[in-house]
Amino acid sequence: MSVLAPTQIDDILAQVKKKAFEETANEPEPKLTGEVKWPVTAEIGRGLENAVTNETKVGYVNGAKGWLNYRGYDVFNLSQFSTFEETSYALLFGAMPTAQQLKEFNEKLAANRKIPAKIIEIMKMYPITETHPMISLSIGVSLLSTFDRTTETLTVEAETEVAIKLIAQMATLAAAVARIRSGKEPIEPDKDLSHAANFLYMLNGKKPDKGAERVMDICLVLHADHGMNASTFATMVTNSTLSDMYSSIVTGIGTLKGPLHGGANEQVVYQLEEIGNLDNVEPWYRASREAKKKVMGFGHRVYKSYDPRARILGPLVDIFTADPEIKRLYDIANKLNELVCAELGKEKKIFPNVDFYSGLVYKAMGIEIPMFSVIFAVSRISGWGGRVLEYLKDNRLFRPRAVYTGPMLAEYVPIEKR
Ligand code: ACO
Repeated sequence: MSVLAPTQIDDILAQVKKKAFEETANEPEPKLTGEVKWPVTAEIGRGLENAVTNETKVGYVNGAKGWLNYRGYDVFNLSQFSTFEETSYALLFGAMPTAQQLKEFNEKLAANRKIPAKIIEIMKMYPITETHPMISLSIGVSLLSTFDRTTETLTVEAETEVAIKLIAQMATLAAAVARIRSGKEPIEPDKDLSHAANFLYMLNGKKPDKGAERVMDICLVLHADHGMNASTFATMVTNSTLSDMYSSIVTGIGTLKGPLHGGANEQVVYQLEEIGNLDNVEPWYRASREAKKKVMGFGHRVYKSYDPRARILGPLVDIFTADPEIKRLYDIANKLNELVCAELGKEKKIFPNVDFYSGLVYKAMGIEIPMFSVIFAVSRISGWGGRVLEYLKDNRLFRPRAVYTGPMLAEYVPIEKR
């Protein structure tokens, strides 16, 4: 693995940001901002398309321009200048921390990273290698709840503490799952390492160099929040029943796992492997169009433009192309991207999403494919937590309606007469 120095990575990010801002400057201005007068009127499509769930100050997706912000800071700046810890603090508490606040937050994360040894023991008792790591992660989060008595009273303060603990512990759980799956002993966190460095250290058993730490940190920042996506909504639905933060996060993990959502990052790499070589990109793409199959890593409910996270993650893969296997897959990915943008981009505004390049970054860092969506969850916990806490302050149960299309007043026929 060859990774550039953090300053060279910063230069890449600065160039990507400049290009993105130039290219999108004349795109339409954002919708769905400002104060809401309830009830709102909206034309709702299937899958709750266009439905409005709540007001939020956590973050905003500008799908027309292809911009994303958390707490008003765009992700180009956050990935260039911030860290996962600082970004998580802002998502949970509403503003960027002072130096003292960040120090205390980091100390809290360090104090909470370790997970109970009993959880590791339990993970060794079920067929973990045959279980998707996202299932193992949700088992781990459920188990963490059994060690935490603070969940018995549901207050914003208590839930905030749980969110911080989970931000700290999900990375440890995820790394433990990866290691047990490959027959290795889990590694305890190192209190002197950053969150990203700790995660890589606990995964690989080796302290990462600064470049690898920086790349993982950028990935964590980029995945931390994303509007009212399916897993965030699911997390909020569970919490809106006044269940508890652990149960809500378990719901989020289960929802993120699906291939139409976070699980797409795994499918993208399988797809690139299936395409196999550059000459096969066009025939493969034509055949998938013919079969009306979705191209994984493309399309989005909100973005009708290039996803800003894909703009950043693509060039990050380039850093690793000294590895011939990564180069081969990256070349295939770029050619597929060109074809899809030229055709589906023009016809249906379908462009690459966050999952198109993220898997290649993780693969280049030596992480096994089934772990990719777990990394997503290790980061998204901050957005889930921030949004759940915001909503809890003025909670109202989520409870939409379905339109009944079945029979009315059906006659009950005894079973023996049916
Ligand atoms: N490849 C080819 N065609 C596509 C794709 C795609 N990836 N995505 C959407 N389309 C087409 C559909 O076939 C449909 O065409 P039609 O109107 O002619 O029938 C049209 O675009 C609208 O598609 P929907 O599936 O209705 O769009 P929706 O907003 O419901 O779906 C989704 C968004 C699920 C992300 C979809 O684009 C998709 O399945 N993409 C592939 C999976 C993927 O990459 N998911 C990750 C998304 S990012 C994230 O969740 C972290």
